[in-house]
Amino acid sequence: MKGIILAGGLATRLRPLTLVTNKHLLPVYNKPMIYYPIEALAKAGVKEILLTSSPDHAGHFANLLKAGEDFGVKLYYAVQKNPKGGIADAMFLAEEFAKGQRIVVVLGDNIFNFDLKSAIKEFEAMDKGAIVFGVKMPTQSQQYGVIERDENGNVISIEEKPEKPKSDIAQTGIYMYDERVFEFIRKLKPSDREELEVTDLNNFYVQEGSLKCHLINWWIDAGTSHDELLRANNLVAEKVKNGELK
Ligand code: DAU
Repeated sequence: MKGIILAGGLATRLRPLTLVTNKHLLPVYNKPMIYYPIEALAKAGVKEILLTSSPDHAGHFANLLKAGEDFGVKLYYAVQKNPKGGIADAMFLAEEFAKGQRIVVVLGDNIFNFDLKSAIKEFEAMDKGAIVFGVKMPTQSQQYGVIERDENGNVISIEEKPEKPKSDIAQTGIYMYDERVFEFIRKLKPSDREELEVTDLNNFYVQEGSLKCHLINWWIDAGTSHDELLRANNLVAEKVKNGELK
């Protein structure tokens, strides 16, 4: 499995913090935000990771992270020309890097601590398909992609930020895809917000009945708002102090 971490976007919701820097370089407790997804992949045994970012900030990531030696991984970089082209647009940059292998994608502002290693093992044993990871959010699921699943974890539908959510399960920014993912991305059209949407991509797998959803206990998207960034800082501090996170 090859890893891909996305660190582009414009992060308008975090301005003015992000006027001259990239959101994934902002601190979350004692580390830059981008450390968390890299460490999560490294811990799961993913040794080669492509980091995608915007033209203005690609060099900042290289200065900070170098070739990945501090994390025990090999880091590669790609520049997404349109920093707001969408999650699937950024993923498309990884086609050559993936070299026909399966991929695990993590959004650069996502922080979590579940056992990614065993999920990867399970995915590798699947014939084909993809896995998304959902988290129960009784009150705010409509701010995210919303997943409807059956009791066996098969996804029935996913809708991007729906007004009337069909479930309380939010789609996190952790995804595993089989080798066909780039074929599906090629078929995508920009959404109303002019992005190639990860939810539209995932719906190709839903249509063929090959998308699974694993539920995880805690996860935070530190890039959603100033309040979520603050919550991420406090939660991580608490989890570092009680030994749950390093
Ligand atoms: O965090 C989970 C949510 O992420 C999911 O529930 C949604 O289904 C998914 O669409 C996405 O929602 P957002 O609208 O909140 O995504 P955001 O624009 O914040 O971008 C997510 C990450 O991807 C962030 O780390 C920046 C990066 N990104 C985003 C875009 C649009 C890129 O690298 N390039 C891009 O073009």
